[in-house]
Amino acid sequence: MALTTFVGILALCQLGVAHYSKFPEGFTFGVATASHQIEGAWNVSGKSENVWDRLSHTRPEMIADGTNGDIACDSYNRYREDVEELSYLGVDFYRFSLSWSRLLPTGRVDHINPDGVRYYHDLLDALAEKNIEPLVTLFHWDLPQTLQDLGGWANPKMIDYFRDYSDLCFKEFGGKIKSWITFNEPYEICEDAYGDLKKAPAIDSHGVGCYLCSDTLLKAHAESYHLYNETYRPTQNGRIMISINSIWYEPSDPANVEQVTLAEVANQFKFGWFAHPIFTEQGGYPAVMIENVAQQSLAEGLPKSRLEQFDDYWTQRIKGTSDFLGINHYTTHLITGPGVDPLAKSPSWLKDIGAVTTMEVGGDSASEWLRVVPTGFANLLRWCKSSYNDPPIYITENGFSDLGTLEDYGRIKYFNDYLTEILNVIYEDGVKVLGYTAWTLMDNFEWRAGFSERFGFYHVDITDPARPRTPKLSVEYYRQLTATRELPQDDRFKDPAVRLCSPPPPMSNLLLKPSI
Ligand SMILES: *[C@@H]1O[C@H](CO)[C@@H](O)[C@H](O)[C@H]1NC(C)=O
Ligand SMILES: *[C@@H]1O[C@H](CO)[C@@H](O)[C@H](O)[C@H]1NC(C)=O
Repeated sequence: MALTTFVGILALCQLGVAHYSKFPEGFTFGVATASHQIEGAWNVSGKSENVWDRLSHTRPEMIADGTNGDIACDSYNRYREDVEELSYLGVDFYRFSLSWSRLLPTGRVDHINPDGVRYYHDLLDALAEKNIEPLVTLFHWDLPQTLQDLGGWANPKMIDYFRDYSDLCFKEFGGKIKSWITFNEPYEICEDAYGDLKKAPAIDSHGVGCYLCSDTLLKAHAESYHLYNETYRPTQNGRIMISINSIWYEPSDPANVEQVTLAEVANQFKFGWFAHPIFTEQGGYPAVMIENVAQQSLAEGLPKSRLEQFDDYWTQRIKGTSDFLGINHYTTHLITGPGVDPLAKSPSWLKDIGAVTTMEVGGDSASEWLRVVPTGFANLLRWCKSSYNDPPIYITENGFSDLGTLEDYGRIKYFNDYLTEILNVIYEDGVKVLGYTAWTLMDNFEWRAGFSERFGFYHVDITDPARPRTPKLSVEYYRQLTATRELPQDDRFKDPAVRLCSPPPPMSNLLLKPSI
């Protein structure tokens, strides 16, 4: 413990001597949320049940604190407060998602819910009044239960349903929305929800459902992109991308050649799974993924691979279908060696990698999986530049969880250290990072963690029906950042426990406070 604190002090002291602090001209800052995590109003105004409503109602024991999204932050009724907060933060854009089951209660376009349409128009108008640009995600995990009942993303028919839903959104809102994201974090959808129990609908078809999902999802993404590109872009002049999440893998011993190779394999399985088909010249899944899954499948006695390759038509159709590379990044994990990870089911995506992973790295947060490793972010960004032909990049999520303290020095330090790494790769490596999105506006329904892990700038009291929001110290930090376009250096943003290091206090002060 003492050692961790000491290392923390050293790291924070270095903050004051950061090489770069000013963001380039035109760099934009935003904040993100997602419909199911904040809206509430789950069963009113025509909205139908989604997969997260179903999971949290029928299997409440699967949510850490037994909460659900019934009311969440009540943003359906309090979106004006959200917009006030965004305006105070001084952000250029607000990333939020549309609730499919609010707009289309049957999941299909045979019934368009007027109240749902009105809600998003009201929100968009309120944002426009404050000059905040919308960056809108079409799918952030809250699939209508009606479509899940037909198999959800394991059903190839979803390509048509998603295209129809996209069509409605482009047609209805495209005059007001110039920046779209098709899918948020396809890995979480396919592996966590279909290949495991970690996300709704918790299908747990490990090693099988996850790959059926990626096949459908990438095709659905491509169809939505082409629809926008051909039918809407000529008049609406917007842009459209996908947001891919990463746990960046590094060798636990950088001098160990086998670990270095396996870390690359793991990054191809994690990030490359969805990035390779879209962002490479060659297209399709990463070669190592195709190989590994084919070999494992053969060994399991299957007649063909659990991972079906795209044919030529789909390889071409999916390639190049994102105007930017959207990256959600939080953390880095380590590879310790070859073999089957102790947590891997059989068969599974994790077993298919063929490496043992560990989370024993960096500083901690309130989330077990979220380790604080700022340098891993820089390594990921450099890797994206070299692997995907130097794409223009938006960071579409990055953030830190704690238990909800208002003096959230841990969050401020996290933002500061991760943003420092962005500056480093922009100026030192020429990585084209164009914008940054902090996760998240306010404490919200953090999926299976409920409200037990808090990522917000604003604290939300979920015991009070009015859902009062209270700014944390990080609000002032981010507000200063968006105002100056420079990393704030003020002492007030540093944990009092480590303020001593910058500037160095007179010796007498130190002696007066022997407890520190
Ligand atoms: C909506 O759900 C709440 C629980 O969150 C319940 O108390 C209420 O009766 C439901 N309303 C309708 C109209 O079904
Ligand atoms: C998008 O549309 C433009 C104009 O028609 C076309 O040149 C381009 O190839 C399309 N992009 C993709 C990825 O198909």
